[in-house]
Amino acid sequence: MTNRVHPPVLDGTDLSPFARIVTAPAGGQTLADLPVEDLLATVLATKVTVLRGYGLLDKPELEQYCRAAGELLQWDFGTILDLVVKDNPQNYLFDKGDVPFHWDGAFAAQVPRFFLFQCVQGSAQGAGGETVFSDTTQVYREAPQELKDLWAQTTITYRTDKLAHYGGLAKWPLLGTHPATGETTIRYAEPLDPTKYLNPLFLTLEGISPEDGVRVMEDLRERLHDPRYCYAHPWETGDIVVVENHALLHGRNGFSGSAERHVQRIQIV
Ligand SMILES: [Fe+2]
Repeated sequence: MTNRVHPPVLDGTDLSPFARIVTAPAGGQTLADLPVEDLLATVLATKVTVLRGYGLLDKPELEQYCRAAGELLQWDFGTILDLVVKDNPQNYLFDKGDVPFHWDGAFAAQVPRFFLFQCVQGSAQGAGGETVFSDTTQVYREAPQELKDLWAQTTITYRTDKLAHYGGLAKWPLLGTHPATGETTIRYAEPLDPTKYLNPLFLTLEGISPEDGVRVMEDLRERLHDPRYCYAHPWETGDIVVVENHALLHGRNGFSGSAERHVQRIQIV
C-alpha cells in the first residue's frame, strides 16, 4: 500500500477566471474510479472541478463515494437533493427564476467543505440556468483597504422562513477565514426581495453605521458579480461538478427557455 501524504491534483483544462475541466480517459470509467482524495485536492486547488465523461453513480453509490471523504450533511430529505424545476414551487430553488449568491450551510448545523453535483439531465443550449460561482478570496484580495476595514467590522443576521429544507435565523461575520488555506473569505447571502422571490431573505447589518451598511450592500451587489471573479457553468447531461464551498459563493441564472434540467447535490462536511 502506498502512503500518499499529498494527493495528486488531476490534470485537465483550466477555465477562466478559475475552474478546471477533467475529461475521462476512454474506457467507461465512472466517478467511483477516481480516488476521492485526489478529486478533493483538485477542488481545493481549482475551486470548481468539472468532470466530463465519467459515468454517474446511483444515490447509494454516490453517498458511499462521498462518505469516504467526510461526514455528509443530513437534511429531512436525506443527503441528496434533487434539484428540478417544479410547477408549484414553495421555494425559489425550485422555480425558473434566478438564485442569488449564497453559500451552503448558513442555516445548517455545519458548513460543508465541498459539494458535488451530478447532472442527470442538462439544459438545452441557450436555455439559461447556469450555476454561477464567485471567488470571494480573489474579490477580497483586490478590494480597496477602506472597504476591507468596513467589511471586517460587519456582522449580518439573516432571516428567512423555513419553506424548504432550511430556514430560521443565522448570524455571521461578513468576513471569514478559510479553514484549509487560511485565506480571507466573504460570507454573504444576497437579500431576496419579497416582491420577487417566493422565499424572501432579510438581512440586518451590525457593527457599522446604517449609511455604511447601505454602501456595503450596494457595492457587494456589483463587486461579487464582476466577471473577473465569476465562473458560470452551463449544464450538460453527465457533468459532475465539485465545488469548494468555503472560498466561493454560488447562485443560478434564471431559465429563459425550457427548464428540464435535473441536477443532484450532495454536501461533504
Ligand atoms: Fe446553494
